[in-house]
Amino acid sequence: MLLEVDHVAKRYRKRDGGEVPAVRDVSFTLESGRILAFLGPNGAGKTTTIKMIAGLVRMDGGDVRIEGRSIRGSGRVAIGRLGAVLEGSRNLYWRLTPLENIEYFAGIRGVPRARARERGMRLLRLCGLEGKAGETVQHLSRGMQQLVAICSALVHEPRILLLDEPTLGLDLDAADRIQAQVARLAREEGVGIVLTTHQMDVAEHLSDEVVLLREGAVVLHGLTQEVTRRLGGDSYRFELEREPGQEQLARLTVRGALFDSPRSFRLLLREPRDFYAVLRDIEPIGVLGAGRDTADLATVFRHYVGNGADGEVQP
Ligand SMILES: Nc1ncnc2c1ncn2[C@@H]1O[C@H](COP(=O)(O)OP(=O)(O)O)[C@@H](O)[C@H]1O
Ligand SMILES: [Mg+2]
Repeated sequence: MLLEVDHVAKRYRKRDGGEVPAVRDVSFTLESGRILAFLGPNGAGKTTTIKMIAGLVRMDGGDVRIEGRSIRGSGRVAIGRLGAVLEGSRNLYWRLTPLENIEYFAGIRGVPRARARERGMRLLRLCGLEGKAGETVQHLSRGMQQLVAICSALVHEPRILLLDEPTLGLDLDAADRIQAQVARLAREEGVGIVLTTHQMDVAEHLSDEVVLLREGAVVLHGLTQEVTRRLGGDSYRFELEREPGQEQLARLTVRGALFDSPRSFRLLLREPRDFYAVLRDIEPIGVLGAGRDTADLATVFRHYVGNGADGEVQP
C-alpha cells in the first residue's frame, strides 16, 4: 500500500493551557494512481492531517506508513517519497524564476542539478509554462504560481502528492489547468494524490474516492461514484412557486437543503417520512414539483455536515 493513515490524532496546546482536539481519529489508505478528495468544513482537521502525513506536525497518536514504512521511525526515507503543497503558502521565492525555484527545491531534496533542470523543464512544459521560464515568480498569475509550486513539489519524483486547497481563489481557467495536471499525474505517472478542497465540483470531477471529515473524525469514506449513487436513492429535488422568505430559507437550510436556484433545491432525506415534513414546510410557498433526484457530492456533503457547513460549498 502506497500510503496508510492509521488512526492519527493531534491536539494543539493553547496558550491558556487548554487543548484543541484538531484531529481525533482519522484513517484511510491510498494506492498508486488514485486521487482521494479529503473533504470537510472549515476547522475539521484537514490541514492538520495533511501536515502530519507530510511530517510537519507531530502526531499524538496513530501512525502514517509510506510503502509500509512508518514515518515515525525512518521518517526521512519515507518522507522523501512525498511532495506537498500546503494551503495558502505557495512557498516560492518570488524573485526567482519558475525553473530556479524548482532547482532550489531539487537541491534541498538532493536531486542532481542536471536531473532537476531536465525534470523541471519537462514539468513546466506539461503545465504550459515553458514561455514563463525567464520571468520571476512575482510576475506570474496566482494560478501559474500554484502550478510552479506543484512542479516544485514534484521535482524529486515523489510517489505521493499532498495538495491542500490547490484551486482556492483561482479563476476557472487556472483551476482547470491545475485539475488537468492533477489528473495527468495520477493517470499517467501513477502518483497517489490526496487533495483537500472546499469545491465539491472539483472533488466530484477529480477524485476516485472521498473521505469526509467532521470535527476531526471521518464521517464518510467511499468511492466517489458509490457515495453519490448510494445516497442518490434518498436525494430529492423540490421546485417552488416563489422564493422562500428568510425564516423558511433558514428552516430548509437546517434540513440540509442545497439551493441551486432561488426557487429550487435538493436535499437528502434522513428518513422517508421527512419527505412530508419538507412538503409541509414549503406548502405555504407553493410547490411546483417534488421528486427523486441524483445526489451529487455537494448534497452529500450538506447531508453529513449539516449546520456545520460554512456556506462555501454552495454553488
Ligand atoms: N497551530 C495551531 N494551534 C492551535 N490550534 C490550531 C492550529 N492549527 C489548527 N488549529 C485548530 O485545529 C482545528 C483544525 O484545523 P485545520 O486542521 O486547519 O482544519 P481545516 O484544514 O479542516 O480547516 C481548528 O479548530 C483550528 O482552529
Ligand atoms: Mg485547511
